[in-house]
Amino acid sequence: MRTQVAIIGAGPAGLLLSQLLHLAGIESIVLEDRSRQHVEGRIRAGILEPSTVELLREAGANARLDREGLVHHGIEIAVEGERHRIPLSELTGGRCVTAYGQTKVVQDLIAVRLASGGDIRFETPVSRLADIASDRPKLIFQENGRERELSSDFIAGCDGSHGIARSAIPEAVRRIRERLYPFAWLGILVEAKPIGAELVYARHSRGFALFSLRSRSLARNYIQCPPEEDLARWPDERIFEEMRLRLEDPEGQLVRSGRVLDKSLTPMRSFVVEPMQHGRLYLAGDAAHIVTPTGAKGLNLAVADVRLLSQALIEFYRSGATALLESYSTRALARVWKAQRFSWWMTSMLHKFPDEDSFETRLHRAELDYLLSS
Ligand code: APR
Repeated sequence: MRTQVAIIGAGPAGLLLSQLLHLAGIESIVLEDRSRQHVEGRIRAGILEPSTVELLREAGANARLDREGLVHHGIEIAVEGERHRIPLSELTGGRCVTAYGQTKVVQDLIAVRLASGGDIRFETPVSRLADIASDRPKLIFQENGRERELSSDFIAGCDGSHGIARSAIPEAVRRIRERLYPFAWLGILVEAKPIGAELVYARHSRGFALFSLRSRSLARNYIQCPPEEDLARWPDERIFEEMRLRLEDPEGQLVRSGRVLDKSLTPMRSFVVEPMQHGRLYLAGDAAHIVTPTGAKGLNLAVADVRLLSQALIEFYRSGATALLESYSTRALARVWKAQRFSWWMTSMLHKFPDEDSFETRLHRAELDYLLSS
């Protein structure tokens, strides 16, 4: 089997790359370990920056997003219950963020890619990458119980944080920088009556909390908890109560109880793999970097990588020029580290660290006051 660009992973990164290449007349095959049902049902991120929305439009995956995306012109920060609004649009000349679940982004991308005759193969785990330093790199994968080989001009490793692509970069050149935070997020997806709020981030002496929306009737709430927390200790009503305490919302005007559709624990972890390319292998999205979810950067960064990588590949197939391909990792990493800095800053300012002394608590408050008066 042969294609021009072999893509590992049908998450937002792999699917969007495949669609953008297709629109430029470049062939690709996407190999995905899990089933379509699993990939389309995963609850993940849900805040899209303007450049992400723009690229989804370019890919033609925007019909439902335009109908259902909730545009937020600001965010709120609650400090010990006192809420302050940051008017994003006003401060940035009209930029805004859109609340729209990654689950839907993936469903939309799969639909447009299949409608344009795309080759996305589910339940085809890639077990090995071969010859990535040559101009005929290969993927070895399983399909219907048989081992198969896909040969290509380029491999895009879009296989997420647990993927195998990055381990194909030789150890002698690969650097992994990582940070684990001493807390996690307990998140719930709740069916609640229509709520007209924006994002509310809370710093509270009991710990961090985040109120956010996935649609007009679906809220995604998070509370900071210890990394090894047992979910069984958190029946739904206890989570709602804790959210209301941290947001100082005793009447539940913001945090409304409802049917809980998903409950999960997200560890707070950051990592970056450098470089993001080797030979004919290019990494994009979570395969190359994880940011803490506090700044809602993960999905947006994955899309930003895909913008750079698709432009570089399109330029190569159009003119044979390799300059954009050669500088891909350097350009992508510049943005990745900016996003790491932002996510680390938001995380440290808004969370309560287990070993935090009163001096640090005051520093985090001072940082917040600085932000709110900036
Ligand atoms: N073979 C084939 N597919 C694989 C393999 C493998 N060996 N290993 C992993 N995959 C698949 C996973 O099953 C997953 O569907 O790769 C896909 C990676 O998708 P994501 O984890 O969604 O990663 P990415 O596309 O980079 O999306 C960016 O932004 O909001 C964040 O973390 C969030 O998923 C999100 C990410």
